[in-house]
Amino acid sequence: MSIWNRYVGIYDRLWVQKVSLAPTRRKVIHTLLGLFDGKEDFSLLDISCGTGQLLSEVAEAMPNSKRLGVEPSDLGTLAARKGHSVLPYTIDALHKVPEQFDVITCTHAFPYYPDQVKALRLMSDRLRPGGILLLAHAETATLYDKLCLSLVKLTTSKAHYPTPATLKGWLAQTDVALTLLDRQRINGKGVPSITLYTARKQP
Ligand SMILES: C[S@@+](CC[C@H](N)C(=O)[O-])C[C@H]1O[C@@H](n2cnc3c(N)ncnc32)[C@H](O)[C@@H]1O
Repeated sequence: MSIWNRYVGIYDRLWVQKVSLAPTRRKVIHTLLGLFDGKEDFSLLDISCGTGQLLSEVAEAMPNSKRLGVEPSDLGTLAARKGHSVLPYTIDALHKVPEQFDVITCTHAFPYYPDQVKALRLMSDRLRPGGILLLAHAETATLYDKLCLSLVKLTTSKAHYPTPATLKGWLAQTDVALTLLDRQRINGKGVPSITLYTARKQP
């Protein structure tokens, strides 16, 4: 059973979701608004969408966007109850998603993927040419980050937090073929350093 199923009853009420990770969602929305410049008819795939918090906030800010979530744990049933379309796939089954998207978002889930380069390859494959990947997760830049994340690891599945340099190298690999456009630091309350990466697939 997925460790994430334990959080079904409490996930949306967790302090970390409400206070500390809200800035990530705000930064993603802000970035999307900047990228699409008021044109809201883009398609978005939120990978590991959890309970659909980001999907709900995108729906509110950009109601004409076409949205789909992917979530393998029972958290996805909560997202579906909120009215979101959700497919129950792990990252390894992403190739089963039958379309390509203008945008892929993936927040605070990448460190849990067992093969992170393969995950990037699969994400790139599900992006249409010129499509954008928005990837956000914590990193171990400081001693405080390392301490926090060693505690977080006790409550989640196994995690590996790649450094920005490592991630940049992975994005550029020929079988991933994503160009890093931007790297933004997100300041959450009491949480480790979080970075939002914006990358584009070759047009
Ligand atoms: C901390 S939650 C983040 C959820 C949501 N994206 C958010 O920002 O609130 C981590 C998510 O990663 C998902 N996850 C963990 N391992 C996964 C895997 N191998 N494939 C797909 N999703 C996975 C979990 O099911 C969980 O929803």
